[in-house]
Amino acid sequence: MENQRPTRLSTALMAIAVVIVVAAAVWQAPNANWNWALFAILLGFSAFSDIMSIETESRLKISGSFLALVLAIVFLGGTPAALIGIFAILVGWLRFREGLPDLLVNALTFMAIPLAVGVGFHEVISSAGITATDPAFFVLVFGAFALGIAMNFLMIGTYTCYLERSSFVEKVRTAMIPLLPSELAAALMAVGVAFLYVQIGLAGVAMFGIVLITFQYLLGALIKSQERARELEVRGKQLASFQVGMLSALLRTLDLRDQMTARHSAAVARYSRAIANRAGFSKQQEELVHIAALLHDIGKFILPDRILKANVPLTDEDWMLIRRHPQQGARVVSSLDGYGPVADIILAHHERIDGKGYPRGLEGDDIPELARIISVADTYDVMTARDSYRTPTSSYEAIQELRRVSGKQLDARFVEVFIELLEDQDVSFRHGEEADFERELSLEARIAETANPGVDSGRFQVAGVSVG
Ligand SMILES: [Fe+2]
Repeated sequence: MENQRPTRLSTALMAIAVVIVVAAAVWQAPNANWNWALFAILLGFSAFSDIMSIETESRLKISGSFLALVLAIVFLGGTPAALIGIFAILVGWLRFREGLPDLLVNALTFMAIPLAVGVGFHEVISSAGITATDPAFFVLVFGAFALGIAMNFLMIGTYTCYLERSSFVEKVRTAMIPLLPSELAAALMAVGVAFLYVQIGLAGVAMFGIVLITFQYLLGALIKSQERARELEVRGKQLASFQVGMLSALLRTLDLRDQMTARHSAAVARYSRAIANRAGFSKQQEELVHIAALLHDIGKFILPDRILKANVPLTDEDWMLIRRHPQQGARVVSSLDGYGPVADIILAHHERIDGKGYPRGLEGDDIPELARIISVADTYDVMTARDSYRTPTSSYEAIQELRRVSGKQLDARFVEVFIELLEDQDVSFRHGEEADFERELSLEARIAETANPGVDSGRFQVAGVSVG
């Protein structure tokens, strides 16, 4: 919702009001108590507090300068308090650079209120003969604070509602009532400092000022860090789901051309996770192997349909191209934040234990463990799946074949783990036919929701995930 801009007329009226208040302050100046030391301390505190004021999301600023204003009202009088008020506003302006109408309203508020309340306060105590040692004096200090805050809410609230064309009652409810507890605390503090000043003089006020400024600084830092943390969390989640979404879109595109890709990927992901689980890997490693398996053949998108469908004899050049799919896949995946480890696994999924694999001809333990797991699952699914371009073998025959190549092509340990697993499971697990890419992927999306893609560390991180 666009804020309304104040009209020229209302800006001019505010300027006139400021001039009137300045004239009134000058007229009231001789009645004030010009204690310059106290004035300087309160001025310094108020300006400092405004420089470090905390800006809330609803455009209102929270600052401790009101406390200084009330002390000035009580001990110095209307005109010095108004001077401190305008000074604080001008210092704050140096930081926030609000437009002229905002500046005028703030100036008006922070001069008119101290002046009016200050003059009123001193009228009351002098006519009632109250001195700073009477308890009634401190009740009046509290009253001055409350009156000041009420006028402050009224003036600033009316102005912002005028700009936003919003309801004043709503403004009071959403922006001001929540501030009441802290305002009450501030009012009680004002009474306390007033008492301290009456008892021990300037030192008490100075000491208190330092404590309060420190507190305000800490509070500001806390609010900022909370806001940052919230923002980072939201951005991290968006990024993670965006990345998973993009990868799955890529894989689906590949699946449009080669019908078996999505099912095969889902089956390999399911088998790989089960192997990792049974071999005693951590949950995090399970997630990692699952996502790497889902994406392991994503590099095949570089292949032309003729090769992808593989219904004609392949030439040597065709094979050269096919052998590039691990690098291509790793390249795409590694461009995403936090997917470096996924890319490393994809790159190595066609390596062989005996060093005769590709693309790097790694041997034995040089091949990442999770890539060795994927090789086992991949080999098995290609043999047993009905939609592959070769005649599918039975689970029993496939197990015989896995045993035959165990220790040469495939990691012997993971082959054994997988065979145990197959023997324990029912038929549907042994045949990856109804492995569903969407279902495996939704698992991934759930993970992405809680995943922190480790922007700085470049590591794949999954926080506190439990997969049921
Ligand atoms: Fe592959």
